[in-house]
Amino acid sequence: MPGEFLLEMSDITKAFGTNVVLDGVSIQVKPGEVRALMGENGAGKSTLMKILGGIYSGDQGSIRIGGEDVKINTVDDARKYGVSFIHQEISNVPNMNIAENLFLGREFKNSLGLLDYKKMHQEAKKALDALGLDMDTHRLIAGLSIAQQQMLEIARAINEDAKIIIMDEPTASLSHGETEHLFKQIDLLRSKNVAIIYISHRMEETFKVCDSVTILRDGEFIGTKNTKETNEKELISMMVGREFESIYSTHRAEGGETVLEVKNLTNSNVKNVSFELKRGEILGFSGLVGAGRTEMALGLFGIDPATSGEIVINGKSVKIRSPKDAVANGIMLVPEDRKVQGLFLGHSIATNLTFQVLPSFIHNFKVNKKKEREIIETYQNKLSIKMASVNQLAGELSGGNQQKVVISKWLAAKPDVLILDEPTRGIDVGAKAEIYKLMQDLAAEGVSIIMISSELPEIINNSSRIAVMNEGRLVKILDPKTDEITQEIIMSYAVEEGVEEYV
Ligand SMILES: Nc1ncnc2c1ncn2[C@@H]1O[C@H](COP(=O)(O)OP(=O)(O)OP(=O)(O)O)[C@@H](O)[C@H]1O
Ligand SMILES: [Mg+2]
Repeated sequence: MPGEFLLEMSDITKAFGTNVVLDGVSIQVKPGEVRALMGENGAGKSTLMKILGGIYSGDQGSIRIGGEDVKINTVDDARKYGVSFIHQEISNVPNMNIAENLFLGREFKNSLGLLDYKKMHQEAKKALDALGLDMDTHRLIAGLSIAQQQMLEIARAINEDAKIIIMDEPTASLSHGETEHLFKQIDLLRSKNVAIIYISHRMEETFKVCDSVTILRDGEFIGTKNTKETNEKELISMMVGREFESIYSTHRAEGGETVLEVKNLTNSNVKNVSFELKRGEILGFSGLVGAGRTEMALGLFGIDPATSGEIVINGKSVKIRSPKDAVANGIMLVPEDRKVQGLFLGHSIATNLTFQVLPSFIHNFKVNKKKEREIIETYQNKLSIKMASVNQLAGELSGGNQQKVVISKWLAAKPDVLILDEPTRGIDVGAKAEIYKLMQDLAAEGVSIIMISSELPEIINNSSRIAVMNEGRLVKILDPKTDEITQEIIMSYAVEEGVEEYV
């Protein structure tokens, strides 16, 4: 039946140098369909969509939109055909306000041909209201959080009457409330016959908002399923190419003596946070986005040092005023925003991977190449980091593979206390399982781990104990030995009394 599909991408092939990253991939999407695109890190999801969005051009293949052949060579071409792209990483932040940004290229003019700012701000306000966003349209884009920028991009796509909207891991940095708003908006777009391509590593979301799901593996099309006719297990085995039992281990690390004692830690964002961390345990930190978990970690790591309170390590009171102090005391942090704080994008993967541990294997000013290679190989294999070679620039890796490099770098350093902030965000399912296993192994070796995570199953299945934060305070520590632990119970502490901060 002609016209059944809104989007048809056929036989798309793309190589970077000799590295073939898409090999004859075809997908067809109907109007009003929400299609998930899933696959391991580096499978080619973003690249396929960048070809549709006019950011890369394919080496081979064709694209039809609304039954007509189209050539998309630039981002403007894509926009002309009604394709709108909400990116995985929002880069160039323009120096303009919300209203200007929203109507860029489609500004309202008055009868004299001058820009009608009043109308632009009015219309912008309406568009934001529709998304449930309460933002002043005069605010500069540069001052917005990543989540706010992302929501704005979505508002813009909706406003431009896009026919096809690509969302590349849209919820990675959204709070629970923001995610709910996004899902409502997706339902609305579906009813308006917009097609949405939704890239995500989160199974729950795929089953919640998507009608169908396409799996890519190593640049190849594996299959498309209706979400109602498949299940998590089947999708995982399609993604990784083998049967997969469970990504969690049944073992729960058991803590020893107290290694770290935090007493009434207070800094610019958290108040009177107290807890003990035991040797070889994994203390999970749960809470809503903005509850102060990251800020607590920044306090311990000396980025936003404590203004009052005490930090005791192995029975000794210490002052941590900078990350250098923290590292000297055996505390290390894998930050949430790895792009900014964790990775040298312009340097090779090898340099990035061994940066933290390098001092430990430089002897007489010579780098121990053997040891360097050992570390690289260990983590490349364990986390299956997909790279052309270790000399490739970190900036050329897919989003998830960049994260794997940062995580490896810190795991290799084997600190006393390791703080992991959202360690598996954007990480594919196979590597998630490996990261959990690496955490359990480190714990067994005596490393004490603080794991901050917004994914409740991850918190529940990995933590020795669970600390819940709410509005800058630690409100409860749950111990599976004595307390019942469910998602609902954790959430009830996370939202108690407080109203979730939303934009
Ligand atoms: N500009 C580039 N130069 C060289 N290689 C690239 C470039 N962009 C992507 N690649 C390679 O193409 C492959 C596919 O990357 P892509 O970003 O499409 O993966 P992805 O499926 O989106 O993964 P993720 O889930 O990690 O975001 C990767 O091996 C990546 O290293
Ligand atoms: Mg990607």
